[in-house]
Amino acid sequence: MTSTWVEPSNTATALLLLGRGSDPDTERGVECPGDLPAPSDPDLVARAAAAKAKLGSRVFVLGHHYQRDEVIQFADVTGDSFKLAREAAARPDAEYIVFCGVHFMAESADILTTDAQRVILPDLAAGCSMADMAVLGQVEAAWDTLTELGIAGETVPVTYMNSSADIKGFVGRNDGVVCTSSNAKRALDWAFEQGSKVLFLPDQHLGRNTAVLEMGLSLDDCVLYDPHKPGGGLTAGQLRAAKMILWRGHCSVHGRFTLESVNDVRERVPGVNVLVHPECRHEVVTAADYVGSTEYIIKTVEAAPAGSAWALGTELNLVRRLALAHPDKQIMFLDKAVCYCSTMNRIDLPHLVWTLEELVAGRVPNQITVDADTAHHARVALDQMLALPGAATPPPVVA
Ligand code: 13P
Ligand code: SF4
Repeated sequence: MTSTWVEPSNTATALLLLGRGSDPDTERGVECPGDLPAPSDPDLVARAAAAKAKLGSRVFVLGHHYQRDEVIQFADVTGDSFKLAREAAARPDAEYIVFCGVHFMAESADILTTDAQRVILPDLAAGCSMADMAVLGQVEAAWDTLTELGIAGETVPVTYMNSSADIKGFVGRNDGVVCTSSNAKRALDWAFEQGSKVLFLPDQHLGRNTAVLEMGLSLDDCVLYDPHKPGGGLTAGQLRAAKMILWRGHCSVHGRFTLESVNDVRERVPGVNVLVHPECRHEVVTAADYVGSTEYIIKTVEAAPAGSAWALGTELNLVRRLALAHPDKQIMFLDKAVCYCSTMNRIDLPHLVWTLEELVAGRVPNQITVDADTAHHARVALDQMLALPGAATPPPVVA
């Protein structure tokens, strides 16, 4: 191993949501280059509808479930990140894909669509703090560590969709796979057929929850690799013994739910069902009644009987929408304090109106492009995910 360890990147983690300038190595915020309409403009809805109608089938608008209502109303299709990746790939005729979601999703759409199509993110500041927690230089340094220990050959890299195209490219170059919260178990099943260890990026919670609750591994089979420490803060023995090497990343929204919030809602609402996303901490998922992806959460609530009570551990825009759509059920946010995903919320109606009107005017704003080499290797890892068997199977119920 190298004797002096140097932090491979000084760009990790800090989000500059309202910052100016760009940083191509991260998902940090950058300024909006255009003149946005005022949020108070009473004609915003009509303007968005008129611009969308003028564009017709030339534009296809994708909306992630965590987007605001004011934006979701203009989505041609809504979904979780897995469904939206497939929808983007299935629309070769749309000239413009307007992605109402976050930066890594738009990158994936660019990789999966044809060269003639343009993928647009209405606000370039819509990054993801989790994706920023794994920077290519850090992951390459970790891989060097595994190589020096002689265990890289038996390690399969698996990255969550919530990672930059650079990281997906790294995974494709090293014979790994992308996964989403809908198919993490199938991705890990596949990975453990290829090798005896997995390097799971960047969400430690999805990796740990899937390995322990769905694959039958123990917590002792998992180690936590901290990219800010030499050798990840782990000994050679720990890395050699581990089956799951979990990257020290997390979602700033789902990571805030605690065991206390589960216990508290059970005390306040007798008979409540606790339903959480697998990006939540292990102790929260273990204490919950049900766990699954965003799409799974929606389907579970839809299928629930009238009068049932549900505490949802996921993003607040979705929880609010589900509560409004199901007034016959008692649907509440798991935590007492409200919490939107601040970067998802960056896409608002003024940004959408501006984007659509720019397209009508013949200008393409905020295009997301992934360089050809990165796109090629990332596509290998994404295609491997899309080829996983049983893509439509829902995750199992916990507890
Ligand atoms: P899914 O859309 O895969 O459920 O992921 C949730 C999320 O945090 C997206 O950013
Ligand atoms: Fe990233 Fe979490 Fe927001 Fe999803 S909800 S975009 S993982 S910060």
